[in-house]
Amino acid sequence: MTFLFNSDAARGQVFRDAFAREIPDLPFSMDPATVDPGEVRYLMTWTVPENLARYRDLEVLFSTGAGIDQFSTASVPDDVKIVRMVEEGIVRMMQEYVVLGVLSLHRNLPAYLRQQQDEVWQVLPQAQAGERRIGVLGLGNLGQAVLERLKPFGFPLSGWSRSAREIDGVRCFSGPAGLEAMLAETDVLICLLPLTDETRGFLDARLFSQLPKGAGLIHVGRGPQLDQEALLAALDSGHISGAVIDVTDPEPLPPGHPFWRDARILLTPHIASITQPHTAARAVIDNIRRLRAGLDPIGLVDRRRGY
Ligand code: NDP
Ligand code: OXD
Repeated sequence: MTFLFNSDAARGQVFRDAFAREIPDLPFSMDPATVDPGEVRYLMTWTVPENLARYRDLEVLFSTGAGIDQFSTASVPDDVKIVRMVEEGIVRMMQEYVVLGVLSLHRNLPAYLRQQQDEVWQVLPQAQAGERRIGVLGLGNLGQAVLERLKPFGFPLSGWSRSAREIDGVRCFSGPAGLEAMLAETDVLICLLPLTDETRGFLDARLFSQLPKGAGLIHVGRGPQLDQEALLAALDSGHISGAVIDVTDPEPLPPGHPFWRDARILLTPHIASITQPHTAARAVIDNIRRLRAGLDPIGLVDRRRGY
């Protein structure tokens, strides 16, 4: 029985050390070329290897990241559990990034950066936190964590998910009617939805039109959820006033793409959050202990829902 780690060597070394310390009875390998494929029970990887079938007794496919949309789940046998990464490093970094994005839009940073370029010293009108309504699409591990981190600022907070939720200090919405109601009262919209058939192209012209004029967007979900043309049109019309975009389709954006030089967009190269090896190794080891105890791992993907 072997754990095969298919990612970069530096992170792998952290995992190797943690496994040796915590679960020394489980052989750990970083080399698919020398491992006996029939021995591999656990595979940790970002994408599904083409030769997955050779791991004929595979039990669990661990994603190195929180998302699993990069896996073609159809290529993974039904009896193999798929587990997304739920670890505190990803959570902390996402909290930092979303707070950065919210405060940047709230305090007119894109406009002040433009003014600096143009050598303009001019005070812009400033809404107070209590007047800036924040709405989060997706109330999972990350959506809930960023809402928690935003609480001390005093923004009115809302969130939307598929199933109804109750979160202290957050107005929770669900379902199509709930979405419409939340969007109508959202000044900064944050997308933290997983990419599924239902959420592909979700951030489109219709959705933008349901936001109040002048709203901002923070997109940290996945690139294919955003209709880029629709965002540019909404920025041109002034209906959307600014956007913080961390994920695009494709990644990286091609040279000359309009997002590169659009001063209304703060663009980052998919760095909102990155799996942190020490905390991730601990999370995976805890999950192996759960599996050994006959429990479901934390982050078990429901293939029917797609996340
Ligand atoms: P979770 O699975 O914990 O949460 C997903 C949330 O989205 C749930 O609240 C779920 O609703 C909701 N949801 C899913 N589909 C729908 C739908 N069709 N309609 C309404 N709500 C829906 O995921 P995480 O919070 O861990 O991660 C979210 C995503 O963040 C990842 O999938 C990934 O794409 C992205 N991400 C981006 C990173 C970056 O660096 N930019 C880093 C890490 C993650 P319900 O509660 O009802 O199930
Ligand atoms: C993730 C990511 O899914 O980095 O973890 O986007």
